Amino acid sequence: MQAGANGRLSVDDFRHEALVETLSTNSECLARARAGDPGNLWITAGRQTGGRGRRGRPWASEPGNLYSSLLLIDPAPMARLASLPLAVAVAVHDAVRAVVPFGSEPVEIKWPNDVLIGRKKTCGILLEGENLPDGRHSLVIGIGINIAVKPANPLYPVTCLKDHGASVSPEELFAHLLLAMAEALALWDRGRGIAAIVERWRKAACGVGEKITVNFSDRSISGLFAGIDDNGLLMLETGPGKILPVAAGDVFFG
Ligand code: BTN
Repeated sequence: MQAGANGRLSVDDFRHEALVETLSTNSECLARARAGDPGNLWITAGRQTGGRGRRGRPWASEPGNLYSSLLLIDPAPMARLASLPLAVAVAVHDAVRAVVPFGSEPVEIKWPNDVLIGRKKTCGILLEGENLPDGRHSLVIGIGINIAVKPANPLYPVTCLKDHGASVSPEELFAHLLLAMAEALALWDRGRGIAAIVERWRKAACGVGEKITVNFSDRSISGLFAGIDDNGLLMLETGPGKILPVAAGDVFFG
């Protein structure tokens, strides 16, 4: 990941290409990486014809919402990449808060990186990585934010910014996201700034102390959400004094 002359990443270090329509902004970024793009490239689209969600689910992408992806090349040593989703969540949380009117329902983060308004999902984040033939590692951060449209989701209640009084265009919201992401990536500092990111994440966390169920690919485990540890792992309290650290899973409240 290339930083500016002073070694700190700033908003001027990023390029942006706006497309009217594409299959998936994530696919577009991965294709650019394979073609030799140096990274720090944002691609947005007014509409996606094959938007992807987590675990191979489709992400409905009609006009009116924000569809954006950021291509990073060699963003950090592999061992430090696990905390990047938390930094992305912090950035999206900042961008959404900047456009939601004061007094609206709370904007919060559900582990690891769903941004909720009033406990309903308003954003989806999908990180995808690929090793390139020349030895570089490409990483794409895909972000979809519901502004005017709220596609039905079989798993979670959903909402959109318009329902919370935010009248913002995808372009205006992207301007906030661009700034917030540059700040969060600078704070993350190629993974060295994990403590600062975890601190910011904890302040925005949703449901600490509440009963949750974590769905894994092969089973579900319920317990109390005891927050995140200093590495960003979810701490699931399965009994008095018994903490199970969780690195990946789908979280449901109640
Ligand atoms: C989720 O399932 O919560 C993640 C959804 C991620 C959707 C975004 S929209 C922009 C980017 N392009 C894609 O195909 N997916 C991501």
